[in-house]
Amino acid sequence: MQNEFEIKKEMCEIGKRVYNRGMVAANDGNFSVKLNDNEFLCTPTGVSKGFMTPEYICKVDANGNVLQANKGFRPSSEIKMHMRVYKERPDVNSVVHAHPLYATTFAIAGIPLTQPIMPEAVIALGCVPIAKYGTPSTMEIPDAVSEHLQYFDAVLLENHGALTYSDSLLNAYHKMESVEFYARLLWQTMQIGGPQELNKEQVEKLYEIRRQFGLPGKHPANVCPNAKAGKPSCHTCGGNCSGGAAPKADADLVAEITRKVMSQLGM
Ligand code: 13P
Repeated sequence: MQNEFEIKKEMCEIGKRVYNRGMVAANDGNFSVKLNDNEFLCTPTGVSKGFMTPEYICKVDANGNVLQANKGFRPSSEIKMHMRVYKERPDVNSVVHAHPLYATTFAIAGIPLTQPIMPEAVIALGCVPIAKYGTPSTMEIPDAVSEHLQYFDAVLLENHGALTYSDSLLNAYHKMESVEFYARLLWQTMQIGGPQELNKEQVEKLYEIRRQFGLPGKHPANVCPNAKAGKPSCHTCGGNCSGGAAPKADADLVAEITRKVMSQLGM
């Protein structure tokens, strides 16, 4: 079991990895670790996470109020987003937020990562939906993210970046790496004619492997909101996993039906 100082050192190490891999620019990104139900360590606001030392790290309570912070340091401006994840996902011990280039590109384009293109992404992540846009540091982001927390372990933040969470800091960080790798592969294959997707049977076999591994987190095959609604589940639902946000295809369908009804009514 790591002591608090060791966890702070690990947070600095992860900060270097996030920064050195270009998953954030300048002072962007933040992450946190749960110590117990009322104590959480988090990165400070407004510093480069690539150059932190343990005394930078702040401690907050379950509401994000400061319990301890050295002079000149305040908790991340996104602490409310982290706290919402811990509140609604008791299995989570660490939350990582970054702006990786390819994942953020998809988040800006409004395209969720839902195509089954490689085994590791299917097993580790399932689908990655998009939480609707919110102003950074306000409750809009925690509220948008909340819609996806019971179904997914990684979420794109519309026009902003990505959020991952898991049972440890290293696993939450690794999920961020996996999201970015998945996004990058998707982007690259889109440049040369688009990906060949794995078929339903292949996806089912991968879900079975995930079950056998007993990986922590929400299982994409069991919890997809579409599956619960009797529709095709993750990786076959064509991007309809984006929680409350109306999928574009549905919006187009509604517009088309409206047009037809209006023309029949002579309007
Ligand atoms: P903080 O430095 O306040 O954590 O904010 C960085 C960021 O990326 C906000 O989205």
